[in-house]
Amino acid sequence: MSPLHVTRTLPEDATDAALRADVRHGLTVHPKSLPPKWFYDARGSALFEQITELPEYYPTRAEREILATRSGEIAAASGARTLIELGSGSSEKTRFLLDALSPAAYVPVDVSESALTQAGKALVEDHPDLEVHALIADFTAPLALPATPGPRLLAFLGGTIGNLLPGERAAFLASVRSLLKPGDGLLLGTDLVKDERVLVRAYDDAAGVTAAFDKNVLAVVNRELGADFDPDAFDHVALWDAEREWIEMRLRSRTAQTVKVPALDLAVDFAAGEDLRTEVSAKFRKEGVTAELAASGLELTHWWTDTQDRFALSLSVV
Ligand code: AVJ
Repeated sequence: MSPLHVTRTLPEDATDAALRADVRHGLTVHPKSLPPKWFYDARGSALFEQITELPEYYPTRAEREILATRSGEIAAASGARTLIELGSGSSEKTRFLLDALSPAAYVPVDVSESALTQAGKALVEDHPDLEVHALIADFTAPLALPATPGPRLLAFLGGTIGNLLPGERAAFLASVRSLLKPGDGLLLGTDLVKDERVLVRAYDDAAGVTAAFDKNVLAVVNRELGADFDPDAFDHVALWDAEREWIEMRLRSRTAQTVKVPALDLAVDFAAGEDLRTEVSAKFRKEGVTAELAASGLELTHWWTDTQDRFALSLSVV
């Protein structure tokens, strides 16, 4: 069996320093916000996996349908020998691409070490000839990729690009563009604008799994920074911003309360009804994706959607 290489590109304390900086900034500005990447400790990653199986959360199934039916076309158009996947999580849908491409190397990149090692172990068992180089890294920071055979296909699936704000998306796409050599490609998954009720339900499910996922960020801050957030003192809220065409998840303080964050020597006041924004999940249209790619020097060459037009995969080959 081929080995599983796991590389942490950031020292453990870099993650810690980034969390501290994000929490200090996010809890002292108005309106309050925290970046969604801090959801994904082991429990958060497990809750997200549960979300992907909820009846209301359609993006995973819609994207899986596209990958199941189009991976052959994607493989033919990209001809990739290395598959790099940003925000790989459980790598569950990636199997369609791996089967179609039969690449020499797979480079999953994720902030969640638990998700990476679990997925990596399963993959090397099923694909004995595949070199798996797992990178524990924050893909919004500059990436140092291992040397693997080209052409390379960089996949960013799940609609996770929607978690970035427009300016962050532009910076991210430009940095992806700078990583690509002639013949390399970007495969991008984007959730599409649709009926507001469908969108809101996908982020506020009846079973309350998304609410638990949302509140998990408070548990992360409690554990890592010694804070005393009471998750029960907040309500999970999902809102559609029709102008910016994005879903926002927020935690709404039920009462006036003060939360202590000892590691930052910080006391944070919440007014009754005050919101802490925990995630933006932007939804896209083909024209917008085409324009954002073009602005970063990438040309959209293929566009595939599921049969219900809920989700799209686009391919740009350099
Ligand atoms: C993993 C970022 C694609 O934005 O839909 C799911 C995360 N948040 N339910 C998304 C998420 C709430 C998800 N992404």
